[in-house]
Amino acid sequence: MAQGLMAKAVALAPDNWVPGGVPDPLIGHQHGHLGRAVSRIDGPLKVSGTARFAAEFPMEGMVFAAIAFSTIAKGRIASLDTARALAADGVVEVMTYRNAPRLSPPPAFMSNPKAAGGDSLPVMQDDQVHWNGQPVAVVLADTQEQADHAASLIEVIYEAVAAVTAFDEARPDARPAMFMGQPLHDEKGKAKAALDAAAVRVDATYRTPRHNHNAIELHAVTVAWQDDVLRIHDASQLVSHTAWSLGQMFGIPEDKIVVTSPYVGGGFGGKCMWQHHVLAAAAAQLCGRPVRLVLSREGVYRLVGGRSLTEQQVSLGADADGKLKALIHKGLTAKTPSNVMPEPFILAARSAYDAETIELDVHTVELDLLANTFMRAPGESVGTFALESTMDELAEALGIDPIELRIRNEPEVDPLNGLPFSSRRIVDAWRAGAQAFGWDKRSAVPASRREGEWLIGMGCAKGTYPYYRMPGGAARLTMTPKGASVGIAAHEMGMGTATAQVQVTAERLGLPIEAMDFEYGDSTLPGTVLAGGSQQTAAIGAAVIAAHRLLITELLEIVGNDSPLAGLKPDDVACRDAGLCKRDEPERHETYASILARAGQDSIEVTGEGPPPLELMHWSMHSHAAMFCEVRVNAITGEPRVSRFLGSFDCGRILNPKTATSQFRGGIIMGLGLALMEETQIDERNGRVMNPSLSEYHIPVHMDVPEIDVIWTDIPDPHTPMGARGIGEIGITGTAAAVANAIYNATGKRVRDLPITLDKLL
Ligand code: MOS
Repeated sequence: MAQGLMAKAVALAPDNWVPGGVPDPLIGHQHGHLGRAVSRIDGPLKVSGTARFAAEFPMEGMVFAAIAFSTIAKGRIASLDTARALAADGVVEVMTYRNAPRLSPPPAFMSNPKAAGGDSLPVMQDDQVHWNGQPVAVVLADTQEQADHAASLIEVIYEAVAAVTAFDEARPDARPAMFMGQPLHDEKGKAKAALDAAAVRVDATYRTPRHNHNAIELHAVTVAWQDDVLRIHDASQLVSHTAWSLGQMFGIPEDKIVVTSPYVGGGFGGKCMWQHHVLAAAAAQLCGRPVRLVLSREGVYRLVGGRSLTEQQVSLGADADGKLKALIHKGLTAKTPSNVMPEPFILAARSAYDAETIELDVHTVELDLLANTFMRAPGESVGTFALESTMDELAEALGIDPIELRIRNEPEVDPLNGLPFSSRRIVDAWRAGAQAFGWDKRSAVPASRREGEWLIGMGCAKGTYPYYRMPGGAARLTMTPKGASVGIAAHEMGMGTATAQVQVTAERLGLPIEAMDFEYGDSTLPGTVLAGGSQQTAAIGAAVIAAHRLLITELLEIVGNDSPLAGLKPDDVACRDAGLCKRDEPERHETYASILARAGQDSIEVTGEGPPPLELMHWSMHSHAAMFCEVRVNAITGEPRVSRFLGSFDCGRILNPKTATSQFRGGIIMGLGLALMEETQIDERNGRVMNPSLSEYHIPVHMDVPEIDVIWTDIPDPHTPMGARGIGEIGITGTAAAVANAIYNATGKRVRDLPITLDKLL
């Protein structure tokens, strides 16, 4: 089966392999799978419509659900009349707090390694209302239309109490913010004094609004209680977390809950566990039938948290040569009492520049609104807008080219913790990007280039996102005479996970790609792997490395005395040509099929667990980007149009250039929305989202997106599994600042509150 594969020997990871401690020996030894532009293996299923999404699973006797949402921000339900809804055509049941099954509150994300909840509020257990848009009733009917209509017949009278729904009102109560158990506060030296003494200073305040998740696929579940097992077809970034969390709520073991999610139509932090999961499972229990619950687009706005707002101050002080003497980045964000997610906008500033002194801080206020959550590059996407806009201002104040200013402030080691960088080739990315974009054609004088009505400008900004690898990665590896299969409870949200993992595993095993299978998106598979933090690839990779090692060990135990491999130890062998060989004597080779046949076995199966992410204790690890934007701003109408964009990335080894290109471009497109369009508008009198639809909440469409070039250094990181760092979130970081800086260069107008709409440019 490996005919035609000119394989070089691949050494196996030694027993003492510590991720980051010893470089993964796979680096630099290629069968040719890694770095190849393999098309998505799920592509044909998607374009032919045969891929089945969460809301497309038919079930015998299934009913459709619709939700009635609260219309006050805080208070209690004084009266709830379901009679008209119950009498409507096709209605099977109406669930409210009065008849819903008794449940424990959801474990909020990060309260436990397996917690999946967007917040910790009880779900439909009492008459209390905590935000405007909270579900107050679930109608079940024979058709979706009947359910939707009946939901409109629910009659609720509320007793409202005073709610805090305006940011300015909450401001006096700001408190230090915590993120993942750590304070969002860092200090190095005396930054305020250094700022006051600096030759050149810039100081500015930036505002970024709330954002809502708008994945193309609506949040949806199809659920059924079958015997004593709860089966959930989901659209999820965390199937195992969801199974465990629902188990906690319903008081049943997690292995009695099966969550599958083979295809996800977009998930950027928001496809965790929200009330719709719980309501659908509870409603199915109540009425004894399978339930499908698809949130309407409005429902996504009412029920699924997005990015919180920020107000950030950045102060930079430098000497006349541009060396940073002080970097101060601090400000405010908002969250709700029941969730754990302040927007951590200082994260990028922790490692971006070698400033002599640094002060970073986030304070948070609490509001009576829907809980906010993760949204692509939480922190970095809006934090880099403020930091990198201010760097642009500093460059102008100094009369230094903005790229040169950034390069002059490149740190040798992590500016705060002193750790060496695992790999940091951002300067290479800047130089390659500047060349490819034609940065030398930029005029440093704002508003100096015009074609007819259009003012033209160029801007740049740094993007950065940390490398993470979360514990809990485990992989099952099965070898049969026909090939191998890897099984892991991971997620394919359209980014190419399945394709890249098939490449990686085939590479390790010396198999052709067609002989590899990847099972994922099922909570019964091994591991607790989150598709988030741009870390899924690393988490899977470390688990696959461990499983691979186990597989080799077991194969060598069954080879027998007649095999050319007889007597060899795992450290002696390599994988090539669909089998094992002695590393320094490749002709001593036997195929996997032959080993299995000789031992009389149909297959061999192992499960390996990724080691703890110790690399993060030894190195400062980040993906990097240099972003370049060209804009045209209409001098008459103020309309801003991005005309060219280039992202130059340094993210370690690129496993698949085709899927990576889409990841980078997708991130940049989301960044264009962040820069120019996206804004959740809340009526501050009552805490209600005013623009809960794609007609009023704008995201980039094809007409808004220019040609986007992406290039990368492709320099493997010696301290990550497979040499790769994350690529899922880096694309959105730096993008908004590159756009804002280009707009300044085009117009001489510095806009410091997003989105940069045309009214701000007149
Ligand atoms: Mo991402 S915001 O970690 O899905």
